[in-house]
Amino acid sequence: MSVLKTEKVGINFGGLKAVDSVDLEIGDEVLGLIGPNGSGKTTLLNIISGIYRASSGKVLLNDEDITSLGPNQVRSKGIARTFQTNRLCLNLSVIDNMLLGLYCQQKTKWWQTVFRPSVSLQEIHEGISRCYEVMSYFNPGLVSHAYELISTLPLIDRRRIEIARAIVGNPDLLLLDEPTAGLNTEETHQMINDIGKIRTQGNKMSIIIIEHDMSVISKISNRVVCLNAGKKIAEGTFSEVSQNEKVCTAYLGG
Ligand SMILES: Nc1ncnc2c1ncn2[C@@H]1O[C@H](COP(=O)(O)OP(=O)(O)OP(=O)(O)O)[C@@H](O)[C@H]1O
Ligand SMILES: [Mg+2]
Repeated sequence: MSVLKTEKVGINFGGLKAVDSVDLEIGDEVLGLIGPNGSGKTTLLNIISGIYRASSGKVLLNDEDITSLGPNQVRSKGIARTFQTNRLCLNLSVIDNMLLGLYCQQKTKWWQTVFRPSVSLQEIHEGISRCYEVMSYFNPGLVSHAYELISTLPLIDRRRIEIARAIVGNPDLLLLDEPTAGLNTEETHQMINDIGKIRTQGNKMSIIIIEHDMSVISKISNRVVCLNAGKKIAEGTFSEVSQNEKVCTAYLGG
């Protein structure tokens, strides 16, 4: 059964069809999303995560139509994401940033926070335990930085924390937009290792990962989809897609 399906999904910006009638289906797997710069990869994730409203087509999560939902509602339904450029709060600690990942699942009502603060405190304590649980399997090195400000941490830890914040709420689908951008070869290797642990040691979730680094895609993905000029031009295993003529032309210009 598919976790996420897009049916002929598209979006126009003026005269530009940034995403053009894309059918995508993802089950219990890691799907690599590749394509040259400007091919529509981030825009497609923006549609799936409710940041952009599709001009045409549908997005289905576990068979439920989520096409018209906004980002908070999509997050509550079970899709979490990271961004191509870091969106952490630099002047908050690691734990505070991770707790933000639980915001959409918060059960305490505002009046309980005011009149029954013990209820709110209990939920915060449970949230902190969950953050430690995630850090412990995803990257135990984060635990010792739990109360440090993000602004004091190196890029690789910031990228890890963004992913940790996305998985802390245990989504059904995780969207990763270039998680290794800006990392050196050794750091990229460490990141591949950490991402691999999400499905083996954490709760099993489907993952869509956008990457330009083909060594990352080949190691992490079970299946690959390639976009070019907003259209899906190839789909299959990494070796099938990397040898596809249209894909080679899109990347190398013929
Ligand atoms: N909000 C927007 N308004 C106008 N055009 C946009 C908007 N968002 C994206 N685009 C355009 O849509 C096209 C696809 O952009 P997108 O960011 O999805 O590409 P991408 O495949 O993620 O590229 P990269 O690999 O460089 O990140 C580009 O031509 C971009 O300029
Ligand atoms: Mg992009």
